[in-house]
Amino acid sequence: MTELHLWLRHEIRPTERRTPIVPSDARRLVDSGATVTVEESPQRIHPVEEYEAAGCRIAPAGSWTSAPATAVVTGLKELPPEPAELTHRHLYFGHAYKGQPGAGDLLRRFAAGGGALLDLEYLVDDSGRRLAAFGFWAGYLGAALAVLQQRGRLTAPLTPTTKDELDRLLRPAAGDEEFTALVIGALGRSGRGARLALLTAGVQATAWDVAETRDLDRRALLAHDVLVNAVLATTPVPPFLRPQDLDAPDRRLRTVCDVTVDVGSPLNVLPVYDRVTDWTAPVRRLREDPPLDLIAIDNLPSLLPRESSADFSSALTPLLLAFGTDPAWDRCLDRFHEALRELGLDKEEPKDA
Ligand SMILES: NC(=O)c1ccc[n+]([C@@H]2O[C@H](COP(=O)([O-])OP(=O)(O)OC[C@H]3O[C@@H](n4cnc5c(N)ncnc54)[C@H](O)[C@@H]3O)[C@@H](O)[C@H]2O)c1
Repeated sequence: MTELHLWLRHEIRPTERRTPIVPSDARRLVDSGATVTVEESPQRIHPVEEYEAAGCRIAPAGSWTSAPATAVVTGLKELPPEPAELTHRHLYFGHAYKGQPGAGDLLRRFAAGGGALLDLEYLVDDSGRRLAAFGFWAGYLGAALAVLQQRGRLTAPLTPTTKDELDRLLRPAAGDEEFTALVIGALGRSGRGARLALLTAGVQATAWDVAETRDLDRRALLAHDVLVNAVLATTPVPPFLRPQDLDAPDRRLRTVCDVTVDVGSPLNVLPVYDRVTDWTAPVRRLREDPPLDLIAIDNLPSLLPRESSADFSSALTPLLLAFGTDPAWDRCLDRFHEALRELGLDKEEPKDA
C-alpha cells in the first residue's frame, strides 16, 4: 500500500449516522501502516472512543479543511458549502456526474482548489460493477417497510433501528393475512436484500430480473399484493407501471416500495408519482378505491446504520488497503477528470490516484 492518510470526516446531515469505515476496519488500516484520523461526530453510530482504541487519531468535527494536503478526506454524503476551493482528495458520494442540482458548483470548487473527487459510486471493477454499495440494506429496508404497511403496522416517523428490532416486527403474527409479493431487480444487491426481508416476514416473493421484464406482463405484476422495485436501470425500458395501470379494475396491488427512486429521470420504470416520500411521511396514497400506497424513500440504509456501515466498510476496506495500486482508483479518478472536461474545467490527461 502507498502511504495513506485517511481523514474520516463528520457528516453534516444530522440524520446520517452511517460511516464508511467502522472501527474494526480502521484498525486493519492502521495495522497495515495507514494513518487514520477520525473527526468527532456526535451522531455517528460508532463513538469516537472506539476509533481511538483502534489506533486512530482524533480531531474536531469539520477540521478536515486544515488536514494535511496528502490526506484523503473520507465521508458519505455532501460536503458543507464552504470552503469555496477544495484542495484535498475527497472520497464520498458526490452525486455530481449526472447533472444533479449543484453538481457544476461542486466540480468548480474542486477545479478551483486543485483537489479531486473520488466518487464512491464510481469505484467499479473492470466490467463497471460497483465495488462498495449500500444496496443490500436498502432492499431489506424497502421490503420491510412494504410488509409493515401491507400489514397495517407501519408507524411514522421512521427512526434508525437495528436488524434484530426490525426482524421482530417483520415476523408474522397470529391473524396476519397472507399476501403475495413481487421483487423486480431480484438478482441484484437490493433485490437480494428485499427477498430476504420478505422471507423473514414469511413471504416467498416472486423474483423477476431482466429476463422476466423483457416481455413485460403487467397483468401478472398487478396480480401481486406488494411490489418492491429494486432495479438499477441503465437504459430506458417500457415502464413497469403507468398511471392507467393503477386504475385497472382487477388490480390486486396494494403496496409499492420503489427502492430505485429514479423519480424525474428518463430511466424511471415507475412513472406513477412525482415526489419521494421520507422518514416523517413514509407512505403516500396513490389511489383510494381500492387503495394503493407508495413508499419511495431515498435514504433507506440510514435506517439501519450499524449493519449497513459494517457491510459497506467491509467492501471498501480491501480497496483502501490497495489505495493507489488497485486499478479501480484510476478508473474513479479518470471519471472525475472526464466530468471536469465535460464542463471545460480540466484539460489535463488523467493522473494516478
Ligand atoms: N432508496 C435507497 O435508499 C437506495 C439505496 C441504495 C441503492 N438504491 C438504488 O437501488 C437500485 C438497485 O441498486 P443495487 O445496488 O441493487 O444494483 P445492482 O446492480 O446490484 O442490481 C440491480 C438489478 O436490477 C436488474 N435490472 C436492471 N434493469 C432491469 C430491468 N429492466 N428489469 C428487471 N431487472 C433489471 C439487474 O439485472 C440487477 O440484477 C439502484 O437504482 C440504486 O441507486 C436506493
